[in-house]
Amino acid sequence: MYNIAIVAGGNSGEYEISMKSGKQVELNMDMARFRPFLIEIRGKKWNYKLETKTFPVDKNDFSLTIGKRKIRFDAVFNAIHGTPGEDGKLQGYFDMLDIPYTSCGVTTSALSFNKTFCKDVVSCYGADIAGHVHLNRDDKRAVSLIKKNLKMPVFVKPNNGGSSVGMSKVKHKKDLKAALDKAFHEDDEILVEEFIKGRELTCGVIRSKGKIIAFPVTEIISKKEFFDYEAKYQPGLSEEVVPAKVPGKVAETCRKISMNLFRNLNCKGIVRFDFIFSGKKFFFLEVNTVPGITSASIVPKMAKAYGWSYTDLITNLLDEII
Ligand SMILES: Nc1ncnc2c1ncn2[C@@H]1O[C@H](COP(=O)(O)OP(=O)(O)O)[C@@H](O)[C@H]1O
Ligand SMILES: [Mg+2]
Repeated sequence: MYNIAIVAGGNSGEYEISMKSGKQVELNMDMARFRPFLIEIRGKKWNYKLETKTFPVDKNDFSLTIGKRKIRFDAVFNAIHGTPGEDGKLQGYFDMLDIPYTSCGVTTSALSFNKTFCKDVVSCYGADIAGHVHLNRDDKRAVSLIKKNLKMPVFVKPNNGGSSVGMSKVKHKKDLKAALDKAFHEDDEILVEEFIKGRELTCGVIRSKGKIIAFPVTEIISKKEFFDYEAKYQPGLSEEVVPAKVPGKVAETCRKISMNLFRNLNCKGIVRFDFIFSGKKFFFLEVNTVPGITSASIVPKMAKAYGWSYTDLITNLLDEII
């Protein structure tokens, strides 16, 4: 029997979703093999709750003391979307303590969490990316740089964000300033990129039993202007078609590109590559290294279409690291 810490929560706008992901993992873990402990990480508070009692984590060795029992963990299931679970911070901490975890390592997590750095690196590996500009808070040339280098419409995004928080699609130059202010409210760095007209396709890739497996490609059809926060989490505002209704060759190419990127970026666990398919090209949007795994999330649907139950998915992720 292995003790598994499921870490959830985190310090971003994705806190609630992460708590849902964590609870779902706890509910569906194979209890014959694993003993789950859902640990909420929120700022400096790292707590395990059992009925009405709260037990703080000892950060010196990532252990719990319950009564006279000291509980150490054989592995960590990482369900924190956003910082500090998706950007390499917790990965560094667990590496120092020699505790294995289900997601990508420090460098891959940190790189992929920085949307601009990640785009620039994947473009070196041959992926297509949209024209973009990277801005810092004190950059006085922001609006003129965008006007000079990019075609409208553009997406203005916090560079280190997720769940479309603080993001806008801007059609008119006069609206740029407000969109920049909104994004700078969330982050000190911003990515502005050209809008690519096309279909949104996403591909989940997992390393399991020595193999890299790509799940069936999924199309995201948003009823909103784009796949924004509401469309992501309000039922009925988006449709996820698994497998995507695209020609077999298109799906195959998308899976190949995703598996290559998974290899090149040295990913671990389950990650989701997002693209806009336009013309014959797959424009890389981002890679989610801790994708949502609530009951309504895309990854469990992809796994199901591949033939894995939710429990299979959790078990396979844990078997990879134990
Ligand atoms: N360059 C783009 N062209 C077209 N749609 C985009 C572009 N960038 C983002 N989007 C839309 O916005 C959504 C969120 O963007 P994304 O970069 O994935 O941010 P987040 O990390 O917040 O999910 C995408 O799922 C897509 O619908
Ligand atoms: Mg996204």
